[in-house]
Amino acid sequence: GAPVEVDFSKIEAGQMVTIEWQGKPIWLVNRTEQQIKDMVSLEGALVDPASSVEHQPEYAKNATRSRAEHSNLLVAIGICTHLGCSPTFRPDLAPADLGADWKGGFFCPCHGSKFDLAGRVFKGVPAPTNLVIPPFHFTSESTVLVG
Ligand code: FES
Repeated sequence: GAPVEVDFSKIEAGQMVTIEWQGKPIWLVNRTEQQIKDMVSLEGALVDPASSVEHQPEYAKNATRSRAEHSNLLVAIGICTHLGCSPTFRPDLAPADLGADWKGGFFCPCHGSKFDLAGRVFKGVPAPTNLVIPPFHFTSESTVLVG
């Protein structure tokens, strides 16, 4: 499929938009500074915090799994790495169903896999690997090309 260009400048802090690329949901999340800070404290609970084990684009092998120019922006394929359901965006802190330690992330309703706001999978859930980061690059200060 053709690459898709997205104006990400209108995504409010802490919000997510979903676009479609190659028939797949692509999430773009404008993470806040606090959310990024909170992610650092999660590392011990994650399977592969630096995305070093699995195949990932080079630019996603860092704690935020994003390109340095806009490290607040997460671009990820919104498909669970367990059996392919679409996880739910759960930015809320400490919700009753996800526990007091929850700092925001993605929850897969099919079998309970949990991912942080960088799409990094938590230990002890069925999904084996982090969410996949698609090919993307920035085409201007406000636009990103996915694909
Ligand atoms: Fe997401 Fe099974 S498909 S936990």
